[in-house]
Amino acid sequence: MPFKSDLRWSEVTPKSLFFNRRQIMAGAAGALVSPILAGRAAAAGFSTDEAPNTLEEISTYNNYYEFGYSKEEPSTKAQALTIDPWSVEIGGMVDKPGTYDLSDVLAGMTIEERIYRFRCVEAWSMVIPWQGFELSGLLNKVGVQPSAKFVAFETLYRPEEMPGQQGGSFPYPYVEGVRLDEAMNPLTILATGLYDEELPKQNGAPLRLVVPWKYGFKSIKAIVKITLTDVMPPTTWNILAANEYGFYANVNPGVDHPRWSQASERPIGGGLFAGRKDTVLFNGYGEQVASLYAGQDLTVDY
Ligand code: MTE
Repeated sequence: MPFKSDLRWSEVTPKSLFFNRRQIMAGAAGALVSPILAGRAAAAGFSTDEAPNTLEEISTYNNYYEFGYSKEEPSTKAQALTIDPWSVEIGGMVDKPGTYDLSDVLAGMTIEERIYRFRCVEAWSMVIPWQGFELSGLLNKVGVQPSAKFVAFETLYRPEEMPGQQGGSFPYPYVEGVRLDEAMNPLTILATGLYDEELPKQNGAPLRLVVPWKYGFKSIKAIVKITLTDVMPPTTWNILAANEYGFYANVNPGVDHPRWSQASERPIGGGLFAGRKDTVLFNGYGEQVASLYAGQDLTVDY
């Protein structure tokens, strides 16, 4: 392969591959339509028509322990992270294992805008206009073997750029996983951007998982490793507190966290007088995903 390592993924990947710019081609009339409204129409069926949070809210109120425990630290401290070059090791029960440059991961994937509700296990929520592609597209590209039952993910481990990884008791690298049928559901995406911009580093650039019917901690950031396996993989919050954070972590108002209720949530940015709102089973995505859990007791498989 000729000098591939000399090129960075951002140089070899056309922007149109990681941003959905269809709306820009809409011409003079299209110029009057906001990108978000146009994007909503394009992704009809998967996107909510609820008003998205502002980019400011989405990129300054974060959970990213590699950059500190507060909501504010990631937006400043993550800026020092090097995200180009970036590669993802894909292995386990796949036909084409290997270490793929991000440009090779993105090749052939259809990037869409998906406006999803996002519900954190801490009982706050947002609406986020992601750019991303269906995880199933990447899994089909590398060829999932019939024996595979789960997909495991791992975040970058680079203490010199991720101060939270320097000492302390948190087990790094952050790991997560989903069942293969959950991974193949069309709602499950790997996000590469938001608001028609490159994904902010504090939101998990250059590649993060988004599983909108599950609590936010499943949506692992800065992914460097994807492994197909036949055993349920360990997940960081389950390792830390198994009685509080299960493997499934489906949004469920009927199963409380041992230390707080999950019946309602606080929408971020709702304003001083905005109240809490009722949390909906599977974060409102039951029509698309409830069948995945037929026959499972969701109080056991929390
Ligand atoms: N991924 C990594 N690597 N490290 C983290 O600390 N936090 C998780 C998830 N992914 C986290 C992570 C949690 S608890 C939440 S709620 C979401 O990221 C927050 O995503 P956001 O900051 O983009 O809103």
